[in-house]
Amino acid sequence: MSDGFQIKVEKTAQSNLSKIDFSNLPFGKFYADHMFVCDFQDGVWKDARIVPFQNLSLSPASLCLHYGQLIFEGLKAYRNVDGEIVLFRPEQHLERINKSAHRLCMAQLTEEVFMGGLLELLKIDSEWVPKDPDSSLYIRPFMIATDVGIGVTPSLTYQFIILTSPVSKYYSAPVKVVFEDHFSRAAEGGIGFSKTAGNYAASLYPTKKAVEKGYNQLIWTDSKEHKYIEESGTMNIMFVINDTLITPALHDSILSGITRDSILTLAKDWGYKVEERKISVDEIVEALKNNKVQDAFGTGTAAVVAHFALIGHDGVDYELPPIESRTFSNKMKKTLLDIRLGKVEDEHKWVYVVK
Ligand SMILES: Cc1ncc(COP(=O)(O)O)c(C=O)c1O
Repeated sequence: MSDGFQIKVEKTAQSNLSKIDFSNLPFGKFYADHMFVCDFQDGVWKDARIVPFQNLSLSPASLCLHYGQLIFEGLKAYRNVDGEIVLFRPEQHLERINKSAHRLCMAQLTEEVFMGGLLELLKIDSEWVPKDPDSSLYIRPFMIATDVGIGVTPSLTYQFIILTSPVSKYYSAPVKVVFEDHFSRAAEGGIGFSKTAGNYAASLYPTKKAVEKGYNQLIWTDSKEHKYIEESGTMNIMFVINDTLITPALHDSILSGITRDSILTLAKDWGYKVEERKISVDEIVEALKNNKVQDAFGTGTAAVVAHFALIGHDGVDYELPPIESRTFSNKMKKTLLDIRLGKVEDEHKWVYVVK
């Protein structure tokens, strides 16, 4: 951190830590004692501070409340076998939030604001990082447009905030997914590759419909023809067919997942055949009909690997092989867990130990 970058710290008078039951942590229910805040004004990040977790004070005419200039990230702090606090590829999250910022005409974040703020926050709230290896401290960095004015134009001022929330495992059971053949979360030329509020807003209604039909998540398909597979829920998607790992190639309607990239890298290390390409719905349905799908799962920071129990298409539910038989995804899930716990060698230097 440069000498000029100072973070003011105001500690809470009353910690909530003793009120938390760490054996029962529903996703997003509890928040740690402090949050990091930094303002972007006159072209620079200033007034970096750590303050007690609290409500924001915003003009109702703030741009973020009207036109969706809001971007975010999601990562986790864990404890390794030595009890140290570790992060997984945090620099990739900084890179991705800056890609989102660019697409949304928002301010670029510097390493000292993103990493400096995060590390200081974790130091102050270190006791909030759960000790159970199945739990973690979810980290939500986000940026909002704070100009006051309701004209449709990029803001000149922003606020960057990091809050944290202790969480346990995301999905406890394998998920039931169904192909979406009408609605879209993202379109070609749009903002699907950015982690921004609008994509999630677009996903809520179709997902609600799928849940009403008994599924947990959708498999998103391309917005033009609904012929090609893109993602699943808020995860990237992968299949193993003919001993080959296949996943949709990235493009502007797919979020470039950090878990996705890590899995593809490890699979190649293991000598697996890996294909990043267009995958049609027809190809997968054909493989499902012929029992050729050996493995199918979503990937993301929250669940790491979320096994699919079944895939629905055109009123038919195709059951997938028993979870115990899914050699690839089980080994991958365990390896990623072991890397982060420090039980196996971290050859790619993905784990960042918070000092
Ligand atoms: C739409 C979407 N796709 C994929 C992912 C997975 O990305 P990552 O592996 O970086 O968590 C996420 C979660 O961040 C997401 O929101």
